[in-house]
Amino acid sequence: MKPSLLVARAVFPEVLEKLTMHFELTSNQDDTLWSSVELIRQLQDKVGVFTTGSERIDAAVLSACPDLKICANMAVGFNNFDVVAMTAAGVLATNAPDVLTETTADFGFGLLLATARRITESEHFLRAGRWHRWRYDMFAGAEVHGSTLGILGMGRIGQGIARRGAHGFGMQVIYHNRARLDEATEVACGAHYVSKEELLKRCDHLVLVLPYSAESHHAIGAAELAQMKPTATLVNIARGGIVDDVALAAALRQGRLAAAGLDVFEGEPTVHPDLVALSNVVLTPHIASATIPTRRAMANLAADNLIGFLIHGQPLTPLNPQVLGR
Ligand code: DGY
Repeated sequence: MKPSLLVARAVFPEVLEKLTMHFELTSNQDDTLWSSVELIRQLQDKVGVFTTGSERIDAAVLSACPDLKICANMAVGFNNFDVVAMTAAGVLATNAPDVLTETTADFGFGLLLATARRITESEHFLRAGRWHRWRYDMFAGAEVHGSTLGILGMGRIGQGIARRGAHGFGMQVIYHNRARLDEATEVACGAHYVSKEELLKRCDHLVLVLPYSAESHHAIGAAELAQMKPTATLVNIARGGIVDDVALAAALRQGRLAAAGLDVFEGEPTVHPDLVALSNVVLTPHIASATIPTRRAMANLAADNLIGFLIHGQPLTPLNPQVLGR
């Protein structure tokens, strides 16, 4: 008999077909948003689950689902997993790194451009029929080329953004990260390591690409925003909760920060009304990795982790490989 697997959200039909070759599948192709009670109900007797980054797997879920052996996230971020609890329960966690790096870096840079150059704000103005004549300072934004790009969180995506800024736009790139990169990687990225304080003070554009954790919760709050230039822009493609959205809205409203580009939000898909009310914010619905080839590659990697582990005993991108030997 094939092992039983749950696919918790809608996914590409060909990925489902691939999984069907190996597993007895229950799939949420209707894409219903399940409560945690419903998720636990659906997980009964399943040895594996395909998640998309929004399904919370914690100690309560694990203790209610004793057959579960692996949770495979179709996302590089895994803040929906309590990896410590999963490791304690002997449940493997996998994510989907690398395959989305360049696509997400493209989007981060695009969001920076849209924000600094006021692209969506000016489009709304045009569509509203308010464009009657040219004016010398109409939607004048911030310079991107030659300016100073700050990156907080210098993993693979941060490095991709640094390369685009340094080599494509002639920017001075400074970064802060928990660990400094080796010299060869810094040279390849054209990036210089600085303290977080110096990063905030010097940058004209700040892009956030750090993972969300208790440690990075509100890494950008009122105190950090106060250190930034009033002409600066802030771009968040990492996770909601890294920025204090209320403090950000206040800084933007009071002209203490020029603009923000946000793809992620505290409590998404709800967006704080103070942010929605502002014209100097570009808002997108968590789409940084959203191209069809990349989303397909992410889904295939999650599926290959499930097949690799449950059928061949070898996952591709484990987050807690220490459970493998048990
Ligand atoms: C990720 O992979 O973590 C993205 O945020 C999901 O789109």
